[in-house]
Amino acid sequence: MRLVAAQLVESRQILPGQWLQSFHAPELATGSRAGQFVHVRTGDYSGLVLRRPFSINTADPATGTVTLHFRTVGRGTEWLTRLREGETLDMLGPLGRPFEVDPRSRNLLLIAGGLGMAGVRMLADEAVRDGRQVTILFGALDASHVYPSSLLPDEVEYVVATDDGSLGHRGYVTELLPEYEAWADQAFACGPQPMLARLARLAAGRRERLGVAKLGRKRGGGKTDPAGSVAARRKAFLQVSMEQTMGCAVGACLGCAVMGVDGPLRVCREGPVFAADEIAWEPVS
Ligand code: FES
Repeated sequence: MRLVAAQLVESRQILPGQWLQSFHAPELATGSRAGQFVHVRTGDYSGLVLRRPFSINTADPATGTVTLHFRTVGRGTEWLTRLREGETLDMLGPLGRPFEVDPRSRNLLLIAGGLGMAGVRMLADEAVRDGRQVTILFGALDASHVYPSSLLPDEVEYVVATDDGSLGHRGYVTELLPEYEAWADQAFACGPQPMLARLARLAAGRRERLGVAKLGRKRGGGKTDPAGSVAARRKAFLQVSMEQTMGCAVGACLGCAVMGVDGPLRVCREGPVFAADEIAWEPVS
């Protein structure tokens, strides 16, 4: 974890109210993994001077840049959109635990709802770099909120669902999972909690639906790894990146806790990525 002065290289609005900013921050670009986040202090000193967490959207060690993708939701993020090229931002990171890909996994399914794309976007780069196949399922309200395919690696298959059917599948992105669950070795998701809860419920029944054990696709050979360990997460079919309001982002305030099956979990320390079966999900319709 480092505190760096990240210099703005480029800033642009990519969707209504959503921005993509590129920063020169070589220390972060080389040391970050998909799923991790940075804690940013904005220059909005008129209100609470709280840092804000942002997923690391992409990191490019060759150019020393990281990108952040965010929605304007208040004074802090509005202040960010007014930042000029060359100005710097106080960025603490990388923080949190990353996605854990099983070395045996060839086909990765990434599932994002809305701004959740920022949580999985970097994993697409890592997977393509490592020679894996990637399909991204993306859900949005309507066509005007669909993440531009031009911002994704060419190698990725991109499938869209919109609530109103104005682009792609009409309905929730979770409805697309059954079509891809046999192909995918692992799935990684980020988005609203009801979406993640639906995916977790689907993932829990996957092995039985597909007869995975009968096909010889046994992950771990029956050995049980401690919940939350890297080994356990690598064996999970579904990992989720949880979005949560944060205070300290270093594990001290408990302001980011979510309920896990074995007790509270700090999103900033034990997460933001969890195996889906670590979380005590709220029932969803
Ligand atoms: S934000 Fe303080 S413990 Fe996570």
